[in-house]
Amino acid sequence: MCSMPRPLIAGNWKMNLNAGESVSLAAGIGSSPSMDVLICPAFPYISECALAKSAPVLIGAQDCSPHGNGAHTGDISASMLADLKCNMVIVGHSERRQDHAEQGGLVKAKMMAAHNAGLKTILCVGETLVERESGNATAIVKQQLDDSVFSACHASNMAVAYEPVWAIGTGKTASADDIEQMHAFIRQYLIETLADGEQISILYGGSVKPTNASEILSIAHVNGALIGGASLKADDFNAIIQAAADIY
Ligand code: PGA
Repeated sequence: MCSMPRPLIAGNWKMNLNAGESVSLAAGIGSSPSMDVLICPAFPYISECALAKSAPVLIGAQDCSPHGNGAHTGDISASMLADLKCNMVIVGHSERRQDHAEQGGLVKAKMMAAHNAGLKTILCVGETLVERESGNATAIVKQQLDDSVFSACHASNMAVAYEPVWAIGTGKTASADDIEQMHAFIRQYLIETLADGEQISILYGGSVKPTNASEILSIAHVNGALIGGASLKADDFNAIIQAAADIY
């Protein structure tokens, strides 16, 4: 019970790439034995990417339904994702919170559905620029954790990704101090809330790229990264995996 959090380098491809591009990107991603490497293609391409990727690379989805299979037009259940050999699913990404008005209770229901299907969840939390500038960043992140973390969460079924909304896709990253402080807060929260909170991986996300990966991944309590833009090019993503391998 004293192992360290398992490092995770996760690529969130969002609503990008066509089938051919997705397959060749999946085939070009490397891995490292000291960490988990995850790719999350768009839903329609998960199966093909699962076949194309190298064996150690994990595959995941960017969202799942909170419901079990049934009359929910357009939704995709966690058990369908498990059927496609997905290992993980991202929940509560800020783009879903914004585009689909997702809130804590719904995110929690998605986590429960995912766990029931045997999937690990990456719970995304993070404040907007207005919230940070008004001094509320920690309170917002705490609220998001309060809303969605529950007692059956543990290191083997959950990771947390701290993604300041204003740093996503903008080229801006939070300062090393801000990242360290928020990650330390999240670590303390997990320790106080869950039996094995010390071992839950906490990722940073928001404009992580090859040029800043080493610095970010070296910050205390950062156990990996959730990467959008830089995960769309094999060379960039592999360079981040290499930076992580040098640290972890
Ligand atoms: P970005 O996206 O790396 O393009 O900033 C991160 C994310 O949305 O997970």
